[in-house]
Amino acid sequence: MPETKNIDTTYHSLTLSEVRPLTADSVMLTFNVPPHLEALYRFEPGQYLTLRTNIEGKRVSRCYSICSPIDSGDISVAIRQVEGGQFSSHAVNHFEADEEIEVMPPMGHFKLSPRRDGETVLISKLYVGIAGGSGITPIMSMITTVMKNEPSSRFVLFYANRSEQSMMFRDELTSMLAAFSGRFFCVPFFSEGAESEQLIHHAVASTLNNNTSSIASTDRPGIPVQIKTLLRELPDLSRADSWHLCGPQGMTDTLQQVLIDNAVSAGCIQRELFTADTQKSTTNKLDKNTQSEAGSQIKVIFEGESIEFRLSPKDDFVLNEALKIRDDLPHACQFGGCGTCKAKIVEGSATMRDNMALEDEEVEEGYILTCQATPTSPVLAISFDE
Ligand code: FES
Repeated sequence: MPETKNIDTTYHSLTLSEVRPLTADSVMLTFNVPPHLEALYRFEPGQYLTLRTNIEGKRVSRCYSICSPIDSGDISVAIRQVEGGQFSSHAVNHFEADEEIEVMPPMGHFKLSPRRDGETVLISKLYVGIAGGSGITPIMSMITTVMKNEPSSRFVLFYANRSEQSMMFRDELTSMLAAFSGRFFCVPFFSEGAESEQLIHHAVASTLNNNTSSIASTDRPGIPVQIKTLLRELPDLSRADSWHLCGPQGMTDTLQQVLIDNAVSAGCIQRELFTADTQKSTTNKLDKNTQSEAGSQIKVIFEGESIEFRLSPKDDFVLNEALKIRDDLPHACQFGGCGTCKAKIVEGSATMRDNMALEDEEVEEGYILTCQATPTSPVLAISFDE
């Protein structure tokens, strides 16, 4: 479990130095980090930034993975517009260079950590990344960092997309294939939804088993014509030092199982789920056994001030309802993954739907992820200040 005790949730205003379209529905945002904030915004490949901006009079925040390599002097994120995604739609359609955006320092535990002393590293590792759609973003940072900082290491990328046109970083990946021949390998798949996920599962398992004939002989759409050559050219994936999965939960759940079934150690597998960008994604499924029909009285303390409201069983999680009154409460992912919304129970009790961020010890001390919290007592008082 990640450590959340020292998360810095302070926003700083950063200027957008570039807004570059990647595909018809995605952009890359590059931020200018002033010298006095450089140390704060140093990151490891795979981490993310939480961005906040005003949309239709309300502050809205979302987190997006960093796609730039470390030590490049830039810090960039890539955003794909998702259906109903308030922030992503605004970013793709309205952000412009020179605009100021509020940005939290980098965070996240999905990371690959080569030395960051500006010198190349004389180690020889084999990394594998598996990305679905915009899941390429953190893996892009890993690939470019490894190519630059570890000249003896190799990186294999399996990358699923709806089509070649919807492929983020297509030109950059093509250039890297030419520049880093023998070190960087990319196996693309183009297909809709679950179909492409099945193809990747099959390709990864086939390659691990050194038996690519079945996938090579298939004529299913979405399989690159050169798949046989591609798969045969790959290094021996069973010797990979680490696997990094980023995509929809269903895809990464199955992939993780495929890897474990094929003798990959669980300790070598890291995965990152997509950040939800729709308000619907955190719709609460209240347990009727844990909350009375009358609901609960909620008290939230933040920066020495408190707000109070009633939460009924049909309402959303504590954080989402509290944000309607105070939109500056600390939060980022809103799916229980980052720990930014951690608060301590000072009265009453609550339950969490998902917790991928708090240590057992923190839960025992009374901390909850407010974005996942439902009260289980008539009164629930929580403090973000403890
Ligand atoms: S906002 Fe990330 S865990 Fe709640």
